[in-house]
Amino acid sequence: MAIGVFDSGIGGLSVHHALVARLPRADFVYLADQANTPYGGRPGEEIVDLVRAGCDRLFAAGCDLVILACNTAAAVALRRLQQTWLPDHRRALGRRINVLGIIVPTIEAATGLPWEHELEHRGDKVEQLDVLGVFSTPATARSRVYEIEIDKRRQDVAVFSEACPELARLIEGGAPAGELKGVVESHVRGLTRRIGRPPDRAILGCTHYEITADLFRAALPAGTPLIHQPGATADAIERYLVRHAEYDPGQGGARRFLTTGRPGAQNGLVERFWGAPLVFDSL
Ligand code: DGL
Repeated sequence: MAIGVFDSGIGGLSVHHALVARLPRADFVYLADQANTPYGGRPGEEIVDLVRAGCDRLFAAGCDLVILACNTAAAVALRRLQQTWLPDHRRALGRRINVLGIIVPTIEAATGLPWEHELEHRGDKVEQLDVLGVFSTPATARSRVYEIEIDKRRQDVAVFSEACPELARLIEGGAPAGELKGVVESHVRGLTRRIGRPPDRAILGCTHYEITADLFRAALPAGTPLIHQPGATADAIERYLVRHAEYDPGQGGARRFLTTGRPGAQNGLVERFWGAPLVFDSL
């Protein structure tokens, strides 16, 4: 089998990049749903339908394990699909298919705790509050997944989300660096104003933003740690594959890049991030 990696567009390439570095011999199929990008401003039900269709295409392309390399998809659709669709779909296909997300590994990295760890009692005085900023799409911010799940695990971490409604679309469209810089700076300023000071750490909670991580680093106070979602996800998937030998990720190092949109070369941002032109085939 191959490992499927899914995003609304090019953002998931940041996760794919880390996965390939960690599992160089594994076979991968990347699917960008560019006919429907961006997802972040869509209603939840639409996102669920699009993610289900994307996973199904990857299962049809020979993947048994699909990674949602998209915070919006994972925040809005993953639990729904795992609970209400996958069990029947597994039976229908007669294969041990599964879908995993990127939010659990990111929260583990942000809290320094395994996912299973939840606070047993509260109320101890918090001496020093660690303020964590999360930049994300509106749909991810609306889900409050980072606030809820981190609050269950760490009383001393306060999470503030900043929805960036236009940013994924601009990155997907290959907007010039000057325009992206202005948008990133305005969101860093907006978050800082709401918190009353800059965050101590930040999560780029939309995989598109990782492609422009240098702009976030420049806009945040020097040295603000960014939790590296692609690296955290690669760690988690590597551990998952050790625990689940039934998912054999192959040995051929094959890489396929598919799009529901227009096939061909991706924009210059991708080329700079990837280090070479990347050509997507139509599905
Ligand atoms: N890259 C995605 C994410 O991580 C989705 C961006 C979008 O389609 O709005 O949220």
